[in-house]
Amino acid sequence: MSSSLADQPLATDTSGNDDGNGSAVGLAADLTDVRARFSSLSDDFVFLDAPGGTQTPDEVAAAVAKVYRDASGNTGAPYATSYRIQALVDEARMASARFLGCTYDEVIFGANMTSLNFTLSRTLGRELQPGDEILVTRLDHDANVAPWLDLASDRGLQVRHADVHADTTLDLADVERQLGPRTKVVAFPWAANSTGTIVDARAVSDLAHAAGALAWVDAVQYAPHEPMDVRALGADIVTCSAYKFCGPHLGIAFGRRELLESWHPYKARPVSMEPVGHRFETGTLPYELLGALLATFAYLDSLGGMARISAWERRLGDRLLAGLPPSRQLYGLPTMAGRVPTFLINFPGISSGQLSEELAGLGFGVWSHGSYYALGLHDRIGWGEALRIGLSHYNTLDEMDRFNDVLATLVAKHGTTPTSDQPG
Ligand SMILES: Cc1ncc(COP(=O)(O)O)c(C=O)c1O
Repeated sequence: MSSSLADQPLATDTSGNDDGNGSAVGLAADLTDVRARFSSLSDDFVFLDAPGGTQTPDEVAAAVAKVYRDASGNTGAPYATSYRIQALVDEARMASARFLGCTYDEVIFGANMTSLNFTLSRTLGRELQPGDEILVTRLDHDANVAPWLDLASDRGLQVRHADVHADTTLDLADVERQLGPRTKVVAFPWAANSTGTIVDARAVSDLAHAAGALAWVDAVQYAPHEPMDVRALGADIVTCSAYKFCGPHLGIAFGRRELLESWHPYKARPVSMEPVGHRFETGTLPYELLGALLATFAYLDSLGGMARISAWERRLGDRLLAGLPPSRQLYGLPTMAGRVPTFLINFPGISSGQLSEELAGLGFGVWSHGSYYALGLHDRIGWGEALRIGLSHYNTLDEMDRFNDVLATLVAKHGTTPTSDQPG
């Protein structure tokens, strides 16, 4: 790949299929055709578990098989299948860069977000000194906390935790208070995997930079729902995971080029130095999953891009919220404002585990869990175990209505007493 590609401007939403207002009308009209692309959506089962992992269109599965047929082996050999693999890797980097809003050389592929985060934090750790500080938040999934705790224990660092408000929004004043001259990283989620709360990532990045720290963003739960422009955000590292947006089980990271160039990677010798993101990929890439990733981006583009997806999901979220049984206890923000369509709820006196099993038996896939790996928020809010309802663009308004009806019937059967929302 020519290095001049690194300088090409990359738009976040390339579809050109939006009406400019993020209109959902078109997507609603297309939904039957969209759903027909998924074998797993061919029966009546209703998947409301998107934050755990989305369904995958058949074309993504077909792309895996195609790579094995057309381009198996490895890069670096002087024959056609090998050239095809290299072209595939280059294309996957370019498409990922468009999705993230960066240049192709700033893309790093890994097994999943967690592995990427351990790798990248370890790499930065080579430069950190005992007494340096890392600031994480109480909204984070543990995949954006545990790597820092382990690094801290190995290197004598201190990990601090920024608090949330009662409504689960991040307390920016506390972020500011906890920043100091030794802060090297502010690690935070763009959207919470538990309550769906969105973080003002631009504001946190600015605070981090003003303190001389890196802005380290977990976008795993934001990427499936909203357009991203990581350069405009000013972030240094942004991670996401393709199986959360109808793609393969593969992690993707953005690393700001200047930062990556300054780091010393953990890499087998001889180190392949170009593109710079590749320095942080160990061993052979999963080429079949990169083929699947390309098919995933083509799929999302064919829907009209992320702005259109977002508009549709907001309508779905409004519909779900409006119809939830009134006795529900909703943790987090009460409307779609400031959130992605992920909802954490409980019904006092009813086991969410039992509810989720009964719902599954009636054809609705929702999770019940304790912390959802959001250990900080779980400790802070204390929801015990709760139901998480997570929407994806392939859900329908009819599914929202059917789910609410069935949930109301189950809740009535278990006989709860109404309570008000308890945000924190
Ligand atoms: C917010 C968030 N961050 C990180 C992760 C970990 O992602 P992965 O499974 O790709 O390691 C998850 C997984 O659910 C998540 O929701």
